[in-house]
Amino acid sequence: MSSSLTPRRTVLLAAAAALAGVPGCGASREALLDDASADHLGQPGVVDGQPSSVILAGFDLIEGAQERAAFGKALSIFRSGQTSGVETTIAAGSTLFRKLGVGDPDGMQRLPGFPGERIDHRSSDGDVIIQVCAGGIDPCRRLVDQYVKESSRILKCRWRQSGFLPAHSEGETPRNLFRFKDGTENPVRSEFPKWVWDDRGGTFLVYRKIHMDVDRFLSLPTDRQENIIGRHRRSGAPLGSEEEKDLVDLFAKTSSGRYVIPVDSHVRLAHSRSDRGARMLRRGYSYDAGGGDQGLLFIAFMRDPALFVRVQQRLAGADAMNEFIEHRASAVGYVLPVAVLERFRNGDFGD
Ligand code: HEM
Repeated sequence: MSSSLTPRRTVLLAAAAALAGVPGCGASREALLDDASADHLGQPGVVDGQPSSVILAGFDLIEGAQERAAFGKALSIFRSGQTSGVETTIAAGSTLFRKLGVGDPDGMQRLPGFPGERIDHRSSDGDVIIQVCAGGIDPCRRLVDQYVKESSRILKCRWRQSGFLPAHSEGETPRNLFRFKDGTENPVRSEFPKWVWDDRGGTFLVYRKIHMDVDRFLSLPTDRQENIIGRHRRSGAPLGSEEEKDLVDLFAKTSSGRYVIPVDSHVRLAHSRSDRGARMLRRGYSYDAGGGDQGLLFIAFMRDPALFVRVQQRLAGADAMNEFIEHRASAVGYVLPVAVLERFRNGDFGD
């Protein structure tokens, strides 16, 4: 966190620190980094095992509602749904902080436009964004229906989107609709405090609904598909390697002097080497709305959404996959630390 916090921002962060049992705003980082389980300060649905179904939804505070009271009530409704087997993750959009008169966390931003996207703004953004995950879609639906109903006097549901993971065995990386393993190169638990959680157990959620032209991609010869991704389809190994978890060697060349992992491949362009090692935790789902409208719900958690912007700028400019995908919806939210959620829920906004 920056040292030049605005007074309002200082209030938000000091509140989180106090409730988390942390001595003060600047003091705790090392302590938390020592404790690889900084996870306990954060909400569910971020670093836990990924259940097979999801519903994401964006809400706006209804105009005329007393904002702080309304948001506190909404939090109570969403928190009451935390039952075993269904996890709800609550994120605050950039517009919410202004409405509440509370300083926003460092890094909060609306994403810029990217070349080639066709964003439907009605199914994007929101004052509040929630992610509801469970082992099946029915419990997610029931809970989201309940949230929408119970909050109908204070929140308007802007959009909702369901997603799924294809069947896969425990410990195996799930495949996306292009049939490639997706999620291999993710930070591991000991790295979460560095790349996912901020010092207080908050993180940013970046959501993109990405349409995929599955039939056209799958009609390509396998080696062409693999060159687009930069990995082998069957094993998930980086091109030129054998095992899924082998290191991505961006320098390896063929005997004819070309890069083994092509310059326009997805993996090369997205690789953390171009971001001084900075990583995001991808926890995506597939969606299928019928009639050929299918693709990826890209969901990723990171300390700073500027990382997403940098990666997406590189991808939008040169990724060989662009011919087969289109970004159609988008949202960014700050996944509030549990301590801040509880304070806001109790009507304590720090002033
Ligand atoms: C439909 C769209 C997309 C598809 C089908 C897709 C698929 C994949 C696949 C198959 C991999 C390799 C396996 C893995 O490491 O997980 C991968 C890696 C990755 N993707 Fe995507 N992806 C998509 C969009 C995005 C977007 C929008 C971003 C971020 C802006 C992104 C960021 C990454 C990153 C950071 C990696 C790891 C690269 C590395 O360090 O090796 N992807 N993706």
